[in-house]
This record gives sequence, C-alpha cells and structure tokens, in this order.
Amino acid sequence: MALLPILEFPDDRLRTVARPVERIDAPLQRLIDDMFETMYAAPGVGLAATQIDYHYQLIVMDVSEEKNEPLVLINPRIVETEGSQTCQEGCLSVPTIFADVTRAERVVVEALDRNGELRRIDATELLAVCIQHEMDHLAGKVFVDYLSPLKRQMVKSKLDKRRRQQAPASATG
Ligand code: NI
Repeated sequence: MALLPILEFPDDRLRTVARPVERIDAPLQRLIDDMFETMYAAPGVGLAATQIDYHYQLIVMDVSEEKNEPLVLINPRIVETEGSQTCQEGCLSVPTIFADVTRAERVVVEALDRNGELRRIDATELLAVCIQHEMDHLAGKVFVDYLSPLKRQMVKSKLDKRRRQQAPASATG
C-alpha cells in the first residue's frame, strides 16, 4: 500500500467533475486500499478520488470511533434528502480550516460497494454530512465554496502563508 498525495485548495484539479467508474478490477481495489491508508493516516473520515487527482466517482470513508467501519461508495447517487443540519466541517484538501456548513439532515444514497454490489445507505448525522461533503468533491466542489467570498479569500491567504512556511529554506538561507 502507499500514501497518496492530496491536492490542496485552490488547486484547479479539485474542480474536475468525476466520471462514473466503469470497471471494478484489481487496480481499482489497490487504489481503494491506498485511499483508505491515506485517509486513516491523515487522519480523516472521508476521501474522494478527486482529492488524489483521480477523476472517477469513488469515495472512501469511515466515521466510526474505532476506525473499523470502512465504507466504499462507487458511482453514488442521492435518492432522497430530508431536513437540514449545520455542522462544522474540515477537509484534507483545506488543512487547518474549519467552518460551519448547512446540509441535509438525512440522505438516502445508492452506490456500488467495492465488490460491485448495489447498496442503499440511509444516513443521518456525521455520516450524512460526510457523504454530502465527499459527493461535492466528485462534482468539483469544495466546502469553502459555501463560505462568503471574503471568508474564502481569508482561507486562501491562510493556506498560502502555511505553504510558504512549510517551503524549504530559500537559496539565500
Ligand atoms: Ni473534503
């Protein structure tokens, strides 16, 4: 297995709209394993393929406390939504930033699992938030898109500064 590099906002590749997965084969299984390893190591509760620059409709997540309930969603489709909830979200592609986002309180999603079996998941609370957040990634959306332009600009500046601080010492140093 391998840790995969995660794209960071405002990288344009995060705006790519993912295409449906057409074949669930051995290379895809390996990619799913690598995505889980990357997500658990980060650590995060969800990772969309978009974030690792693979533009197919594939999501891994695990919202359990013990990190022992891996969930794979391939070609997910929301078939029902209900209510609304506001939750503080973060994202592996927007490190150190957290902000309130309002989403549906309950979603019913249909997706293929890693064996290609069609699953129907009735989700509320954190699982519902996570599904909607990750499905946004597949549509080329990032959670900071829900913030005001001013707040989004502040997020960009903060991340720029963070990247500058992490950059290796310059030639003059
Ligand atoms: Ni995210």
